[in-house]
Amino acid sequence: MINLALLLAVLTVVSASPFEKRASANAGATSSDVFPPTGTKVNSALFPGETVIGYPGVTATGVEPLAIQTAAAYPNSNEAFFPLVGAAPADNNASSDFSIIKQWGNLSPWCTVNSSFYGLPSASPLVPDQCEITQVHLLYRHGARYPTTGSLPTAFSAKLQQATKSMQGFNATGDLSFLNGWTYKLGAELLTPFGRLQNFELGVEFRQLYGHLLNNFTEQGALPVFRTESQDRMVKTAQNFAAGFFGVPEFLDEVSLEIVVEATGFNNTGAPYGTCKNSNVASRGSIGSTAATNFSATAFAPTVSRLQPYLTGVNLTTADVVSMLQLCSYETVALGYSQFCKLFTLEEFKDYEYYYDIAFYYNNGFGSPVAAAQGKGYLEEFVSRFEHQALAEYNSTTNSTLDSNAATFPLNQSIYADATHEVVVLDTLTALNLSAIFSSGPLPLTGRPQQQQSFVASQVVPFATHLVIQVMECSQMSPTKQIRFLL
Ligand SMILES: *[C@@H]1O[C@H](CO)[C@@H](O)[C@H](O)[C@H]1NC(C)=O
Ligand SMILES: *[C@@H]1O[C@H](CO)[C@@H](O)[C@H](O)[C@H]1NC(C)=O
Ligand SMILES: *[C@@H]1O[C@H](CO)[C@@H](O)[C@H](O)[C@H]1NC(C)=O
Ligand SMILES: *[C@@H]1O[C@H](CO)[C@@H](O)[C@H](O)[C@H]1NC(C)=O
Ligand SMILES: *[C@@H]1O[C@H](CO)[C@@H](O)[C@H](O)[C@H]1NC(C)=O
Ligand SMILES: *[C@@H]1O[C@H](CO)[C@@H](O)[C@H](O)[C@H]1NC(C)=O
Ligand SMILES: *[C@@H]1O[C@H](CO)[C@@H](O)[C@H](O)[C@H]1NC(C)=O
Ligand SMILES: *[C@@H]1O[C@H](CO)[C@@H](O)[C@H](O)[C@H]1NC(C)=O
Ligand SMILES: *[C@@H]1O[C@H](CO)[C@@H](O)[C@H](O)[C@H]1NC(C)=O
Ligand SMILES: *[C@@H]1O[C@H](CO)[C@@H](O)[C@H](O)[C@H]1NC(C)=O
Ligand SMILES: *[C@@H]1O[C@H](CO)[C@@H](O)[C@H](O)[C@H]1NC(C)=O
Repeated sequence: MINLALLLAVLTVVSASPFEKRASANAGATSSDVFPPTGTKVNSALFPGETVIGYPGVTATGVEPLAIQTAAAYPNSNEAFFPLVGAAPADNNASSDFSIIKQWGNLSPWCTVNSSFYGLPSASPLVPDQCEITQVHLLYRHGARYPTTGSLPTAFSAKLQQATKSMQGFNATGDLSFLNGWTYKLGAELLTPFGRLQNFELGVEFRQLYGHLLNNFTEQGALPVFRTESQDRMVKTAQNFAAGFFGVPEFLDEVSLEIVVEATGFNNTGAPYGTCKNSNVASRGSIGSTAATNFSATAFAPTVSRLQPYLTGVNLTTADVVSMLQLCSYETVALGYSQFCKLFTLEEFKDYEYYYDIAFYYNNGFGSPVAAAQGKGYLEEFVSRFEHQALAEYNSTTNSTLDSNAATFPLNQSIYADATHEVVVLDTLTALNLSAIFSSGPLPLTGRPQQQQSFVASQVVPFATHLVIQVMECSQMSPTKQIRFLL
């Protein structure tokens, strides 16, 4: 861990009072900026595309969505998470403002969280009047994706398939009757159409917020270098972000996209589990997964009892309940709507969120013995970029070949944008010791506490979540160089 003495304010969004600007001598004058710098082009030998880099990971495609027929309602652009169509919990009525989509841990889409949730009611990400933004560092997660390989929903679909082949077959009734005709339509690992939208939208938002910093590149006569990992969804994530930021087709010529190999044995700060030997060891890197499974065994036992009467030929388990909740999330973000969602009550969705809260807190948050070590690589790179100082040693997850080369690891950019995974964003927050999200202490394992915890997975590690580090020059402050961390 490192101590950042300049840490000003942590976390989150929302409004501040608009500040006034005095009329200056050139008020009303016409002005424009120039980007890209003339004569620049992407060096394709240094930044080869995905086909050259390889290591795309699993790329299993699924069924084409047909929400016009399968959804319960037409997408409403006045609602959050458009064009996804959510559902009310089984026991809830339309008057409640409870959103099931916000209870899905790392499978929720990102959304703005009021900073007062973290006890920072007057925090604002807007640059204060007396400061000027000089640099921005973005660490962002890919948008919505299909399930990763070997996840619970595939086991559930295999179980149903198995049951159809038995003598008795299976028979679902009542709210579960849709299962009689249900098939598993999801692929694996790839970004979904909604996922593409999330990263594109983030790119558009970033251009609008920070586009002015491109003038710095024009002054240097250089193109920005943005990074991502080699997995298919990571490459597409960075491309969609760049398409939103630079435009289509401009993004092909206006940014050097560095694709870093993600595979076991490779050093990649965006995929540290490929370097850290303890990452996937059950007693170290994934104790949260076991703890979450333990929690779900208790929390969802009543759900099994509630749903089992509607199913013959299949004996439900608490793992099946988690599978069906995950199918609610995955089908919604991939196909636009899921019939699984309306099976579950408000309390069950809250337990589903808590299942993820436990998993992430103990896998990649303060409850993990390896999280800070995994976050160290990106942290070192951030400090290096911030201080304009090359790394002195390569003893974490950093790659000396890439990071010692000013072309592949420039130290003088005004905008950095690195795509990564949610676990890495959280590892980084843990390494940074960003205490606001952890302030209520270790999450109880025995059951979901009545008292609201400060660590909520859907607020920290959702699809397209992003850590933004602003560097500002503030003439009236001491020191004049100030940093802020926004989540
Ligand atoms: C609707 O939900 C609200 C808030 O949960 C509750 O107070 C009310 O009793 C519910 N109404 C019906 C008809 O279920
Ligand atoms: C944030 O929460 C505070 C306290 O609950 C409330 O006063 C404020 O209006 C909220 N801001 C927004 C933008 O919702
Ligand atoms: C399925 O169960 C329902 C309710 O018990 C019953 O009416 C129906 O005949 C069953 N269908 C089959 C194909 O067994
Ligand atoms: C470091 O990056 C280079 C360039 O991508 C790659 O060839 C090399 O295998 C990487 N080394 C490690 C240890 O990951
Ligand atoms: C999960 O439950 C098992 C069986 O009760 C127990 O041995 C194990 O310690 C628990 N693991 C965690 C991480 O809570
Ligand atoms: C379900 O459980 C019951 C009671 O343990 C058992 O008799 C039955 O064979 C099981 N059915 C299946 C499909 O596993
Ligand atoms: C790793 O490198 C840093 C300097 O970058 C140094 O402070 C630290 O002691 C090194 N750790 C090990 C285990 O070599
Ligand atoms: C990769 O990381 C290991 C462990 O920190 C380090 O010993 C090795 O030098 C690194 N390799 C490169 C190419 O940076
Ligand atoms: C920034 O770094 C690049 C790569 O080393 C170099 O070409 C460029 O001149 C530098 N720009 C400034 C302003 O230092
Ligand atoms: C561009 O931005 C970087 C990072 O803030 C800074 O070090 C550099 O001086 C700037 N270059 C110019 C020409 O303004
Ligand atoms: C992390 O932050 C908390 C709260 O600010 C502080 O008490 C603690 O000492 C910090 N931990 C480390 C390792 O710096």
